[in-house]
Amino acid sequence: MSPRPIIAPSLLAADFARLGEEVRAVQAAGADWLHIDVMDGHFVPNITLGPDIVRALKPHATVPMDVHLMIAPVDPFLEAFVEAGADIVSVHPESGPHLNRTLKRIRQLGARAGVVFNPSTPPSVIEWMMDEVDLILVMSINPGFGGQSFMHSQLAKIEALRRMIDASGRDIVLEVDGGVTAETARLCVDAGATALVAGTAVFRGGPDAYAANIAALRG
Ligand code: DX5
Ligand code: ZN
Repeated sequence: MSPRPIIAPSLLAADFARLGEEVRAVQAAGADWLHIDVMDGHFVPNITLGPDIVRALKPHATVPMDVHLMIAPVDPFLEAFVEAGADIVSVHPESGPHLNRTLKRIRQLGARAGVVFNPSTPPSVIEWMMDEVDLILVMSINPGFGGQSFMHSQLAKIEALRRMIDASGRDIVLEVDGGVTAETARLCVDAGATALVAGTAVFRGGPDAYAANIAALRG
């Protein structure tokens, strides 16, 4: 039996005109974390939100804010997001020149540090950095948009990263993001994932459906 996965609803699929209410509703429905997707229209072909929205949502958050930065350069904005209330800050290795320095900076600011793997990013990127990482996030889609289909090719990478984490002996969260549904959630957990991000699969059907949607992801 795998342990119960952390469920992190992605606010990208929430109603942006009612974000505070959506945060409260999804927490009442059982969300373990809030996943917040930050996009700059440069690193990825979409624009979402910035630190001011994180700060505005913080008083509504009773669970950790899991902030996924898809911006480049990323380093100049780390402090703003942690100061705004991010508990976990995850970065793509491609979004700055010195991943080690970036991860150290996130921890120094007081947040947990995550590394995000694009579908083409190899596990070896963090081979020499396991001590600097609190969370590993595997993208099972190309980042930029919700509602895409899960890439089964990434399951082998989840397994490889699971082996690296186990060999390190460290308590590193292994999270998956993109196209996670009740069906693909099982595959991710079986491959070794301990946290699941889901936008469409949580927010479809409106607030009355959130609890059942989250329960379905837990399997
Ligand atoms: C995409 C984001 C995801 C996205 C997932 O770049 O990182 O978090 O919201 O959406 P779904 O669950 O709809 O694939
Ligand atoms: Zn994300």
